[in-house]
Amino acid sequence: MSKKVVLISAAIAVAVFGVSLYAIAGEGMKGAMPDPYIPKEKVMKMKEMMMNMKPDTLEASLMRGEKMFNNPKLGKNETGQSCATCHSGGGSVGGAAEMNWKGMKMMVAIPTLKGAAVNFPAIRGPMKRIADLGDMNNMCIMTFMKGLPLNKNMRPAVDLQTYIGSLSKGKRYKIGGKKIVPTPIPGAM
Ligand code: HEC
Repeated sequence: MSKKVVLISAAIAVAVFGVSLYAIAGEGMKGAMPDPYIPKEKVMKMKEMMMNMKPDTLEASLMRGEKMFNNPKLGKNETGQSCATCHSGGGSVGGAAEMNWKGMKMMVAIPTLKGAAVNFPAIRGPMKRIADLGDMNNMCIMTFMKGLPLNKNMRPAVDLQTYIGSLSKGKRYKIGGKKIVPTPIPGAM
């Protein structure tokens, strides 16, 4: 990669990440909705970056995503957990994970990810937010793994979705579907 491309990529990463944080900040909040579009100057840089992209394949994305899924350092987390700690082999290890919500501790049953991707976007969590698959992946990184979320406008976030999506192969797409908990846990959300 040339120096120029590296610099442009870094600038876009910062620009786009800034935009997504802004989106989260304005999301579902009362009052005026922030502008949902990416500013023109940033779009120019994105277009330039697209010109310099190398062709990719689904197989390569799937392999990168699966590697991320099993990486105990994903999100630079220091808990030593990977996605597979709870969703072993893309399934569920059973039981529930603890979540803090507005000062309250609650138990949330661990769902299987086999057949999960087809249900998104869907309403999830105690905040009753409409979430897509990338949001859910980030929610687990932030909430359970105590790590940094992935920038949804960059390739790694898509790679992780490719892998989770592959666990729903052949399933019928139905947005808004419920999570699949193999053995329901009494008292858990
Ligand atoms: C500590 C356990 C734990 C870890 C680690 C974890 N998850 Fe989860 N995951 C959960 C729980 C609990 C839920 C259910 C959340 C809810 O119902 O709101 C969930 C839900 C999900 C969902 C939504 C499933 C559905 O049908 O609603 C996806 C997708 C997901 N996790 C992906 C991941 C990915 C990708 C990783 C790694 C980056 C990961 N999870 C790491 C516990 C975990």
